[in-house]
Amino acid sequence: MLEPLDLPEVLFVNGSDVLEDNGSTALMWKLRSFDTVDSTNRIIRESLMEGANEGVCAVALRQSGGYGRQGRTWVSPLGGVYFSFALRPLSRNVPFSQIPSLSLMMSVAVRRVLERFDGSRRTFIKWPNDVLIEQGKAAGISLEAFGDGVCVGIGVNVFASSEHVVLPGKYEPSYMSSEMLQESPTPAQCSLMIGLVEELLKEIAMEYEVWCEQGFSAFIDEYQDHMAFIGDEVCLEALDGKVLNEGRIQGIDQWGRLLIMTDQGKIAPVSSGEVHVRGISAKK
Ligand code: BTN
Repeated sequence: MLEPLDLPEVLFVNGSDVLEDNGSTALMWKLRSFDTVDSTNRIIRESLMEGANEGVCAVALRQSGGYGRQGRTWVSPLGGVYFSFALRPLSRNVPFSQIPSLSLMMSVAVRRVLERFDGSRRTFIKWPNDVLIEQGKAAGISLEAFGDGVCVGIGVNVFASSEHVVLPGKYEPSYMSSEMLQESPTPAQCSLMIGLVEELLKEIAMEYEVWCEQGFSAFIDEYQDHMAFIGDEVCLEALDGKVLNEGRIQGIDQWGRLLIMTDQGKIAPVSSGEVHVRGISAKK
C-alpha cells in the first residue's frame, strides 16, 4: 500500500520549531501529505477560496488529474513529488505589475535545489519556468490566481517508475535519480523525497521574501546565467500551435519577458507562448 510521505505538519524556514516574535514575515509552511489525489492544485484552490493563509501546502506522491500551464495534462505517476501551496503577495504590498515574475523566481529557487542534490549534471531554466536537467524536463511549475491569492504548483520527476508514460509529442523527461521506483518507494527513496520537498520549500520561502522586498531584479542575473537555448533560434507557439513569434533567444527583461532577436534584427519582448527550439520537434 502506498503511504503518504512522512512530512512534518509545520515547517519553519530557519529550521527552528519556535516562532520568533521578531516581526518576521517569513513563511511558515503548513503541510498536508497525501498518497494519491486528483490535483494538489485543486486542494490549494479550495483553501484559497476559503481564505487560507500563505504557506498552506499539499503534497502528493501521485495525481490522477494533474495539470500544467495552459491547462495541459501533467502526467503524475508514482516516482515524482507533486505539491502546491498558497501565497498572497498582494497582501504584502507587492505591486501588481511584479506578479508575473513570481513564476520565474520560482524556477530560480527550484533549479538551485535540484543542482544542490546532484551537481554533476547541468541544470537549466527553459523560459518561462521549466527546470531542465541536461536536455530533459525535470520540474514543471504552474501559477494560478484565485481571488487575491496565488496557487503555485510544482511537480518534480524524482524516480522513473513503471507507471511512467511519455505522451506523444513530448520529450523524455529527466529524473533526479537514476534509480527506478518499484510498486512503492523504499525507505531510502522516501527519505530522498522528503528531503527534497523540505529543501524546496525552505529555498522558496527564503527567495519569496527577497522577491517581495526587492522585486525580480534580484533574480535576473541568476535566471539568465542558467537560461537554456540562449542564442538558439526558437518559435513561440500558442496552445493551438499558431506561431506567435520567431527569433533567437537573447535573455529576459526586468519583467521576466523573453527577449528574442527577430530576423529584422529587432529585439522583441514576448510574454506568452511555448518555446520550441528549431530542429527539436517535440515539446519540453
Ligand atoms: C507545466 O510545466 O506545465 C507545469 C506543471 C505543474 C504541475 C504541478 S504538479 C503539482 C501541481 N498539481 C497540478 O495538478 N499541477 C501542479
